Amino acid sequence: MIETAQAFGIDIGGSGIKGAPVDLIHGKFADERLRIPTPEHSTPEAVAEVVKQILDHFDVHDGTPIGIAFPAPVKPDKPLDFMANLDQSWVGVDLNAFMSEHTGRTVHVVNDADAAGLAEAQFGAAKNSEGLVIATTLGTGIGTALIINGVLVPNTELGHLELDGGDAEKYAADSVRSAKELTWKKWGKRLTKYYRLLEKYFSPDVFVVGGGVSKKHEKFFEYVDIETPIVPAALLNDAGIVGAAYFASTKQ
Ligand code: BGC
Repeated sequence: MIETAQAFGIDIGGSGIKGAPVDLIHGKFADERLRIPTPEHSTPEAVAEVVKQILDHFDVHDGTPIGIAFPAPVKPDKPLDFMANLDQSWVGVDLNAFMSEHTGRTVHVVNDADAAGLAEAQFGAAKNSEGLVIATTLGTGIGTALIINGVLVPNTELGHLELDGGDAEKYAADSVRSAKELTWKKWGKRLTKYYRLLEKYFSPDVFVVGGGVSKKHEKFFEYVDIETPIVPAALLNDAGIVGAAYFASTKQ
């Protein structure tokens, strides 16, 4: 039996780029993570340079499964066709090829919310769950992952549903809460509208909430007034890194 299996995960976010080696047996970091702020001008070259810096810091060799959670829909071998929160020059980039070339290692890119959903399904709050789990990440944007009886439906992008006459994530993301200095209660009201929309269209069995703010779930869950059970991601904000590493391990 294999006692340890390691892979490396990186999570590219709107404010920080984080990486850590991941223990795939237990679904947790094998060492302290490194976080570097996302370059203000978040072009492909600038972001790839930070990713390389993180891989060099941990001395990650080619051959180790390396996964990158990325904040846009990722279709393997197709150039990126939509980017919400990083520089628009990402559109048209073949992510796997570009990142592998710039880092000098074979890497596997996956949507960030899908990575978080995979981690929760494999190791966390959605483990052994039956029915439909909707994992949401609340951060710079809103990411979503649909997991049906343990199987991920990738690239759902439900953070861009129409809400209040505009893009849902521009109304209810955690970045909106801090930019507008909303109280937890006011933000909870916005989240209520968002989760009710998801309830109406998908009738999920449970919502799992990840992203940096999930560690403060006690401050706002009480204001989210919905029928469906809502739980914090068991891996909290580590889910993107753990899920990316797990995703890469399934590709090698
Ligand atoms: C992007 C998604 C991403 C989410 C969270 C959205 O703006 O379109 O692909 O999962 O932000 O980062």
